[in-house]
Amino acid sequence: MHSKDQICHDDYQKTADWLLSQTQHRPKVAIICGSGLGMLADALKLQDSFQYSDIPGFPQSTVQGHAGRLVFGDLKGKTCVCMQGRFHMYEGHSLCKVTFPVRVFKLLGVETLIVTNAAGGLADGYCNGDIMIIRDHINLPGMAGLNPLNGINDDKFGPRFPPMSGVYDKDLRRLAKDICKSLGFSQFVQEGVYCMVGGPNFESIAEARFLHKLGADAVGMSTAPEVLVASHCGMKVFGLSLITNKVVKDYEDMERVNHEGVLGVSKMRSETLQTLVTELVSRLDIN
Ligand code: 6GU
Repeated sequence: MHSKDQICHDDYQKTADWLLSQTQHRPKVAIICGSGLGMLADALKLQDSFQYSDIPGFPQSTVQGHAGRLVFGDLKGKTCVCMQGRFHMYEGHSLCKVTFPVRVFKLLGVETLIVTNAAGGLADGYCNGDIMIIRDHINLPGMAGLNPLNGINDDKFGPRFPPMSGVYDKDLRRLAKDICKSLGFSQFVQEGVYCMVGGPNFESIAEARFLHKLGADAVGMSTAPEVLVASHCGMKVFGLSLITNKVVKDYEDMERVNHEGVLGVSKMRSETLQTLVTELVSRLDIN
């Protein structure tokens, strides 16, 4: 390591080499599962799984509802690696740690990253249980200087000044919408802008109104750093937010969000989300 916060190419490579020595799977797709959405990993066939604590160099997960396991396996004929539980900034991890797995995936040969998260709905038409295909994001911590790409740029991964337009792959979003239509999901599927905030607190009413005015349709505490780092190193990205609660934007509204409620809704829709991701993966033009 260069310093406390900078991770060098060798560190990613060591973890990747260790994983390559432990499994025969050679995934082209990585899936990061959000809060309560880790069931997908259980569906992989011919599994090789590793506790994060057993993987050299890997950060440790601390949140309830996040198992902390890396699972390799076959999903409808496509080799995948699945993170059951991700790392969040609010756990105290540096953003290099939060995004560490993404660069390891790159070194494993992964070309497509699929991310899911639980998010609060800001857009007026959104209901609890809606699935939002992420069209774009607002990386609020990133814009304020909390960026995983801060520091010396590693040109082996990507350019110093990466573009962030067109990051959420248009063809994959099209494919997902087609799949939703044929599965009869369309009435609860949306497409919109995800805004990342640092957390761990949920938004105040004034903050929620502010984010809504900025053009955010959903808000959560993850995803943007991983997507940023994946895009930087040339991966295709697809993302889904499960709307677990409507964000309170009205001073008359007495509802209050809590983590248990978030997990409850994600449980309710986790199977649907799993079906959608599985179908999407099976129709990827790979392997
Ligand atoms: Cl309302 N806010 C944030 N920041 N993250 C969430 C959420 C709300 N609901 C689920 N995750």
